[in-house]
Amino acid sequence: MKPGIEVRLKDGMTEEEWRRLVGWSDDPFRIASYRYVWEPKRWRILVCVEGEPVSHVGVTPQRMVKVGEEPVLVGGIGGVVTLPQYRGQGFARLALREAMRFLRDELGVDFGLLLCREELVPFYAAQGWKRVPPPVLIEQPRGKVPLGLEAMALALREKPWPPGALDLCGLPF
Ligand SMILES: CC(C)(COP(=O)(O)OP(=O)(O)OC[C@H]1O[C@@H](n2cnc3c(N)ncnc32)[C@H](O)[C@@H]1OP(=O)(O)O)[C@@H](O)C(=O)NCCC(=O)NCCS
Repeated sequence: MKPGIEVRLKDGMTEEEWRRLVGWSDDPFRIASYRYVWEPKRWRILVCVEGEPVSHVGVTPQRMVKVGEEPVLVGGIGGVVTLPQYRGQGFARLALREAMRFLRDELGVDFGLLLCREELVPFYAAQGWKRVPPPVLIEQPRGKVPLGLEAMALALREKPWPPGALDLCGLPF
């Protein structure tokens, strides 16, 4: 890593810290139109330049989801973002790599799971993530609904992602 760049893990984040990362847009992830209720992130992986966070990955607690009839232990990630002026320098990739280490070694899950817009599938696929075919079900206050985004999984151990419909058994992350 270049001098002045460090990766930090934080348990929680203040509203002000979050604003500094996403305040450049009122819809930084371009998903506001889905009007989903999201699972809050618990941990934050931050790439900092000279002490200031420039890139972020949020991590949710371990969750047992269902693929077909099989229970599968996953760690959800979301809120992947790099400040516009710091993009294209590998910061998101660095944060994702650290998030995967955290999920595997500290949360002990078998897969990373994320939800994204279709145009980001190549970004994650280039880092080893595989698209999970629909149907994918998520919980919302009105009940269980089909996901309107793409789901992608990353195998963190030997096991491959099983076949079958994915039920997130909770809110999207
Ligand atoms: C997507 C995002 C996080 C990428 O951040 P970044 O720090 O610029 O990404 P990196 O520099 O680590 O990019 C790693 C690789 O992915 C590629 N890449 C970056 N954005 C991409 C995109 N939107 N689509 C496809 N590939 C992309 C880069 O070119 C780079 O490839 P290379 O190694 O061959 O050069 C950033 O564009 C962003 O904050 N977007 C707005 C928020 C958002 O939509 N987040 C995704 C939520 S699911």
